[in-house]
Amino acid sequence: MSLFVTFEGPEGSGKSTQARLLYESLHARRFPVILTREPGGTRIGDLIRRIVLDLQHTEMAPTTEMLLFSAARAQLVSEVIRPYLDQGGIVLCDRYADSTFAYQGYGLGRDLAELRVITAAATGGLRPDITFYLDISAVEGLERKCRKGARSTGQHGVGVEWNRLDARELEYHRRVEAGYRELIAADPERWRVLDARQSIEALAEQIAAIVEPYLASITRLETVP
Ligand code: TYD
Repeated sequence: MSLFVTFEGPEGSGKSTQARLLYESLHARRFPVILTREPGGTRIGDLIRRIVLDLQHTEMAPTTEMLLFSAARAQLVSEVIRPYLDQGGIVLCDRYADSTFAYQGYGLGRDLAELRVITAAATGGLRPDITFYLDISAVEGLERKCRKGARSTGQHGVGVEWNRLDARELEYHRRVEAGYRELIAADPERWRVLDARQSIEALAEQIAAIVEPYLASITRLETVP
């Protein structure tokens, strides 16, 4: 058996921190686990990431954007995620296909039926077993991301990765948030919604407790003699 867990949420929700903490605790317990992220996670995917998030690429057409995210995902699934799951491992992924539905579908208004077809091609139909949604409003999330940047550099939005998509207007981020709510309502079994305003420790505990029952079917790595 294997386990595929994804983390979703608006900017500044703290999902990358939680993905890392879960990775560290599973790794320490000798579970076969990898942590990856989208867009990126492969050599080709990281090149696509640079293109798609570059603040200078203001002329990028919405179709190009949607296909680039999907292309990076296709590479990640075939090069990293599928092979690891096939070996019985645990894959943790910071964002996955739901981000395309929330951001390009609900945020940019792309046709959802078309996205379903493209996503099925990119993922080969691979869906997560569990998806955590770190719940925080679009406004609060963006404020957190800005504050983090200001703390580290003294400048607004600098020092954290402030990208082309963060820079979109607030209305866009609100549509993304509403989109996530629709995705959650349509598939409540898979989604676990957690209040992202809790402490890092409290969130990590809840995530660990939700994942625990799934670990029974995962074979741990041998200890090195
Ligand atoms: P990143 O710096 O990784 O932000 P975050 O920490 O919020 O994940 O940038 C990823 C950005 O790409 C983020 O704004 C969400 C966006 N995105 C899409 O618009 N569509 C997608 O399919 C994916 C995977 C990400």
